[in-house]
Amino acid sequence: MTTSVPTSQQRPGTPSGTATVNYQGKSIELPVLRGSVGPEVIDIRKLYGETGAFTYDPGFTSTASCESSITYIDGDEGILLYRGYPIEQLAEHGDFLETCYLLLYGDLPNATQMKEFDRAITYHTMVHEQINYFFRGFRRDAHPMAVMVGTVGALSAFYHDSTDINDPHQRMVASFRMIAKMPTIAAMAYKYTIGQPFVYPRNDLGYAENFLRMCFAVPAEDYKASPVLSRALERIFILHADHEQNASTSTVRLAGSSGANPFACIAAGIACLWGPAHGGANEAALTMLEEIGSVDRIPEFIARAKDKNDPFRLMGFGHRVYKNYDPRAKVMQKTSHEVLDELGIKNDPLLAVAMELEKIALHDDYFVEKKLYPNIDFYSGITLRALGFPTTMFTALFALARTVGWIAQWTEMIEDPAQKIGRPRQLYTGAARREYVPLNKRG
Ligand code: CMC
Repeated sequence: MTTSVPTSQQRPGTPSGTATVNYQGKSIELPVLRGSVGPEVIDIRKLYGETGAFTYDPGFTSTASCESSITYIDGDEGILLYRGYPIEQLAEHGDFLETCYLLLYGDLPNATQMKEFDRAITYHTMVHEQINYFFRGFRRDAHPMAVMVGTVGALSAFYHDSTDINDPHQRMVASFRMIAKMPTIAAMAYKYTIGQPFVYPRNDLGYAENFLRMCFAVPAEDYKASPVLSRALERIFILHADHEQNASTSTVRLAGSSGANPFACIAAGIACLWGPAHGGANEAALTMLEEIGSVDRIPEFIARAKDKNDPFRLMGFGHRVYKNYDPRAKVMQKTSHEVLDELGIKNDPLLAVAMELEKIALHDDYFVEKKLYPNIDFYSGITLRALGFPTTMFTALFALARTVGWIAQWTEMIEDPAQKIGRPRQLYTGAARREYVPLNKRG
């Protein structure tokens, strides 16, 4: 394949050149599209029609599945931008609801817009009272992610008036509902597993502050989160809010491409996020640090991670896109120190293991050659544990924060006039046509 060099600056997403594919003696010109930043893409939509051949890309390592203007990642440089703003700036100066507004609408809000948005979200923080009874069907020892998948999927049974995806007003109400109710549902999932009564939301509190209270207050005693801890949790939510076309976001888009209602799509995203290669890695990373236990056992685990015959991987290391330090991990590392300082935890053995493990891995040839750096999940577990959450809640908190990203991406897809149902093809390697043989004639 050859590509022509674009000659002029053009509007992002429009053709900037062509690529020529030579296949079975035929030459086909394919448009090359240029984004605002990042690699160009070769538009292969005509390829099958013109050649009868598919492209093959399991895991989508070379495939742009859609056009999007929400989040940008430069994995080689370790850059993450939401609507153009660096994640470090948003995490340092912004708050979570402001980030939600930015992801949904494309720009930071002014003071009036922020106030209205805040009100619109907090208006929806309570869940339908019947959901309390719905919860009672779960076992008390259910994993919070199992409860989240089930309950968020069930929201479509409770909020019929916001499931028509062709009505922009209903789409907006569904979006607000999910951003507002996710902390309430996650806190309920936690309370349910520990046998405590649900705590209703309080709309005079900030997003993270309210969530902490719903998790840790009891009828006998209120809970007041320290500003440092609320701020740390806001930051964790901001860091997790969106991440381009990752597995769960692609799942939400694919589910939504068939016209499924938004609650069902977000439930699909939560199910995908649960896997240990994706959002489940924060839980797995902390479990691993606990298993390592002390600094002197690190070499043993590094050796296992490098052993081809051992399926063990260093959880919280490596990323499909980042081939540099995950910019979110840097902020998370700083946040974990702030939380531990605030709580007066001077010598957390797990933090000591994490820091030493990071130091060793960053200088080990195996990790250096494969560009395996710590990702966001490496330090988030330590921080969430210090905040008082059990490991089983870690991925539920990730789902809570990622909901806005899923919704922004789902909305962008629904509003895209070029949107089609997602329907990949395959390289078929099964049996060719053969004739049915009745049971009594089979050998
Ligand atoms: N420990 C040891 N070796 C690793 C690790 C690791 N954590 N990650 C990748 N490798 C090796 C892997 O064995 C392979 O080696 P080889 O080329 O010799 O076969 C090579 O590095 C490339 O790995 P891959 O699995 O082909 O890469 P991928 O892009 O498909 O996977 C990943 C990315 C994140 C799934 C993987 O790095 C991993 O499993 N990491 C641990 C789980 C984790 O921390 N996940 C959280 C990701 S960040 C949060 C999120 O976005 O959800």
